[in-house]
Amino acid sequence: MKRIADFAIPSLKIRKNTKNPAPANTSLEFMLDKAQTEQERDPRFLAKLQSALNAGGVHPTAILVVNTLLDLAKHPKYQEKLREEIRQKNVEVSGNWDQHAFDTLYKLDSALKESLRFNPATLTAYSRELLMDCELSSGLRLRKGQLICVPSCSKQKDENIFAEPDKYDALRSYNEDANMHRARPFKSLDEHAHRWGAGRSACPGRFMANIIVTVILVRLLDEYDFQLAPSRGRPDSTMTHEFIWLTLGARLMVKRRVKNSGIVYGTVAQI
Ligand code: HEM
Repeated sequence: MKRIADFAIPSLKIRKNTKNPAPANTSLEFMLDKAQTEQERDPRFLAKLQSALNAGGVHPTAILVVNTLLDLAKHPKYQEKLREEIRQKNVEVSGNWDQHAFDTLYKLDSALKESLRFNPATLTAYSRELLMDCELSSGLRLRKGQLICVPSCSKQKDENIFAEPDKYDALRSYNEDANMHRARPFKSLDEHAHRWGAGRSACPGRFMANIIVTVILVRLLDEYDFQLAPSRGRPDSTMTHEFIWLTLGARLMVKRRVKNSGIVYGTVAQI
C-alpha cells in the first residue's frame, strides 16, 4: 500500500490541480476523472482503491496463468493439443495476432475454464448485503441487512453440473458442446460455475484478465515445455479466509522448445 501511495498520490495531486488534463490513461486517472464526491477525489482514498484493485485483480490473473501451467504440466497430453491450435492460428492469421485471433482459440479457452474450475480464486462468490426482506423460490426467508454468498467452489465440483467433476479435462467444455462453448466462452458469466460471480457486480475485470492470460499462455506454450518437478507433484493451494492462493515455493520445470512458431506480438494490430 505504501509503495502504491508513494507513486500514486503525487501524480494524482498534479492531475487534480490541472485544468483540462490529458485523457485518462491509467485506472488511477480514470477513477479520479469519474469521481463524484470529495472523498472519491482524495488521492489517498484512490491509492487505497488501487491497492484493492491490485490485490483483487492482478493476483488472481497471475495465479490463473501459473495454475493453468501447473495443470498442463500435470496433464502433458493437453500441452501439444493446445500448441497445435496455436500453431494453426498463427498460420491462419499470418502472424498478425488481433483480438479475434485470441478469441478463437477455443481449446485454450476451454483449458482456462477447467483450470479456474479446479483452482477458483475464492471459495465463495456473490457476497451481498440484503437491502430488503425477500423470500427465495425454495421458501427460505432472508432479512434486510443479512449477508449472503454462494458456495461457488462446491458448485464447481458438483456432479449434477459437471460430469466426473474431480477429473481434470482441459478440453471438457470444447468437447462437451462446441457451439455452447463458443457462445459462452471463458470470459462470459456462467450461472453454474460462478467463476466471475453474477449479476451487476460480477467481475468487470474479466475481459482484461481473459486477454492477459491468453496472450501470455499463447507465447509460453509456443516456446516452452512444462513439467512438474520430480517427486514434488502438483503443489496444493493455500487459503486466507475465502481467498485461495498459490503455495509459495511451488516448482515448475520449464524447457525452451527448439521448434516453435516464433510468435512476435510486435505485429498485434488491434487489441
Ligand atoms: C482471473 C482473474 C480474476 C478472477 C478469477 C476474478 C474473480 C472475481 C469474482 C469472483 C468477483 C466477485 C463477483 C461477484 O461478487 O458477483 C470479482 C469482482 C471484481 N473484480 Fe475480478 N477477477 C479477476 C480479475 C480481475 C481484474 C483483472 C480486475 C480489474 C482490473 C478485477 C476487478 C474486479 C472488481 C472491481 C470487482 C468488484 C465488482 C463489484 O463489486 O461491483 N478482477 N472478481
